Amino acid sequence: MVAVVVSQPSPDDPLAALEVLDTAPEPVEAPPPDWVPVTVRAASLNHHDVWSLRGVGLPAERMPMVLGTDAAGVGPDGEEVVVHGVVSDPAWTGDETEDPRRSLLSERWPGTFTTTVHVPRRNLVPKPAGLSFEEAACLPTSWLTAYRMLFTKAGAAPGQTVLVQGAGGGVATALVSLGAAAGLRMWVTSRDEGKRRRALELGADAAFPSGERLPERVDAVMETVGEATWSHSLRALRPGGAVVVSGATSGAMPPADLQRVFFLQLRVLGSTMGTREELGRLLRLCASSGVRPLVDSVLPMADAADGFARMVSGEVVGKVVLVP
Ligand SMILES: NC(=O)c1ccc[n+]([C@@H]2O[C@H](COP(=O)([O-])OP(=O)(O)OC[C@H]3O[C@@H](n4cnc5c(N)ncnc54)[C@H](OP(=O)(O)O)[C@@H]3O)[C@@H](O)[C@H]2O)c1
Repeated sequence: MVAVVVSQPSPDDPLAALEVLDTAPEPVEAPPPDWVPVTVRAASLNHHDVWSLRGVGLPAERMPMVLGTDAAGVGPDGEEVVVHGVVSDPAWTGDETEDPRRSLLSERWPGTFTTTVHVPRRNLVPKPAGLSFEEAACLPTSWLTAYRMLFTKAGAAPGQTVLVQGAGGGVATALVSLGAAAGLRMWVTSRDEGKRRRALELGADAAFPSGERLPERVDAVMETVGEATWSHSLRALRPGGAVVVSGATSGAMPPADLQRVFFLQLRVLGSTMGTREELGRLLRLCASSGVRPLVDSVLPMADAADGFARMVSGEVVGKVVLVP
């Protein structure tokens, strides 16, 4: 057995907080007895796991905590499943992401970077046979977030132009792949020439250095970078356009530029994860269209530190997958 854990967060040096243990620690709060075990066959790394190592959203009284928000594996009846990582209150019936009491796996309940994870039965979604466990494990966090940003929040329609900030990230590469598959004209920015090239290979129509003036205004911007790109995102939008924001890796307090927001009637839309229903649709889209996640690397869980180091240094292009 192996478990990737945080027990002492380190705000400035997240890698120093990473622990790889031979056994999962006793959880502070044990999962309810009616939850079902899933044998993890693959899990993927998300920037959320880096925030957890920094102590963001994970108070001291919840530690030690097994990291990991998404996984694909084998359910209690031997079925192949994808785990939806958003755990809502059992009494909640609407959009799970809007439940004020929701949590993500690894925030309140132990996460997926171990051999077995316990989840509510309703969080199991059948894995399409055409997707490998490694591919399926990339979908429930960054790909689901990208799906909701593009289709539910922005309502992007074929033929529209969408700008993605920070081309190499897990969410960003998902946005490019999904948008291209749906007939959107996808533009990206990146600080790195190699990542711009990879984005073009993935299906982006154009790639620009971060902050560069665009040849024309776009219908929507997908923003996960935050302070470093926010002003550019607002400048890139056509009047009435939408910026959908689901992350702020470089900082969360950029100048709001309210004059531009009201004068051009821009829409600023927050987005977080996605519903189980959206995850089901995303899986069907991947199965029928042939779209697959860009996998940066597949590592044994015991070597999780190598994957975290790649993410913290910004080297990752696509998804880092961990296998127990
Ligand atoms: N709300 C939600 O439900 C949700 C879900 C998933 C992710 N998120 C958030 O979204 C963000 C991205 O997540 P991820 O898993 O895709 O992370 P990731 O894979 O680590 O994303 C890395 C990308 O961020 C860009 N970036 C980082 N720092 C930057 C800076 N200072 N200037 C410009 N670009 C910078 C880089 O773009 P280039 O190097 O290409 O320029 C890089 O490719 C994280 O903050 C995460 O917490 C939120």
